[in-house]
Formats: sequence, C-alpha cells, structure tokens
Amino acid sequence: MAKEFTMAEVAEHTSRNDCWVVLFGKVYNVTTFLDEHPGGDEILLNATGKDATDEFDDIGHSHDAWAMLEKYYIGEANKSTIPTKTIPSTHPLGVDTKGKKSKYMAYVIQFLVPLIILNVVVALFSKSSA
Ligand code: HEM
Repeated sequence: MAKEFTMAEVAEHTSRNDCWVVLFGKVYNVTTFLDEHPGGDEILLNATGKDATDEFDDIGHSHDAWAMLEKYYIGEANKSTIPTKTIPSTHPLGVDTKGKKSKYMAYVIQFLVPLIILNVVVALFSKSSA
C-alpha cells in the first residue's frame, strides 16, 4: 500500500535539498527535478508545503509533463489534511459558483428574460396597430 503523508509532514520538505510538492492528492519528491524543471526551480520551491494542483493545472502542462510525475511519486497525501480552497461560494453577481444547477438557471434567465420582454413588446405593438 502507498505511504500516506499529512500536509504537516509534507510541509517539512520545502528546501532546495529536500523538496516535496502535492499535486492531485499525491506527494512528489521533486528535489532532483528542481534544476531540470523547464518552468524553473523557484516556482517549484514556492509550490511546496501546500497543495499546488491549481498552479500545475493552470499552466496547462503537456502530456510529457504529466508522464514525468510518476518518476517523482512517493505516496498519497492525507486528504483530510489538505486545506479546502477558499474560493467564495457566491459570485459577486449573486450566482452560486458551486452549483451547476444555478449556473444553468443563470443561462436560462439570460435567454428567457429578453425573450419575454420581446414578446410583450411585440404583443403591445400588434395590439396598438390593430
Ligand atoms: C513534478 C511536478 C512537475 C513537473 C514534472 C513539471 C514539468 C514541466 C514540464 C515538462 C514543463 C515544460 C512544458 C510542458 O511540457 O508542459 C514545465 C513547464 C512549466 N511548469 Fe512545470 N512541472 C511540475 C510542477 C510545476 C508546478 C507545481 C508549477 C507551478 C507552481 C509549474 C510551473 C511551470 C511553468 C510556469 C512552466 C513554464 C511554462 C512555459 O514557459 O510555457 N510546474 N513543467
């Protein structure tokens, strides 16, 4: 069975000589990779001690980069110790960013409201011209 590390354990490995990162709930020892990383060592060092999944994902790493991960895998991150992201649950415009359903509702409203207004205008116009 794969070894499991808490985030506190992972956070003890944040130096140039001993560098671990957490990506997709897995722990990678990237110490030997620091000098080889095409994105530079600094960015990797900055990504230590926390869950760097979003940063890794945002770059849009290639398939090759994904395949390289395996080489540095040392175990699983204890999921309950990974802090949840502090993305606000509500959009500034009041759209719930967590629920797909409310996103769908926002789309429906976006199309439905102008359609209703158009209908009313057309109805009024045809009434007055009759
Ligand atoms: C073990 C983990 C990682 C591996 C194996 C890896 C591998 C690579 C590879 C192969 C590239 C070249 C471009 C590509 O093929 O996609 C790259 C570029 C890059 N990586 Fe990583 N990476 C890792 C982690 C990270 C993390 C955690 C970050 C950000 C916090 C990061 C940021 C970048 C950036 C900024 C570039 C340069 C992109 C560009 O110049 O277009 N990488 N990485």
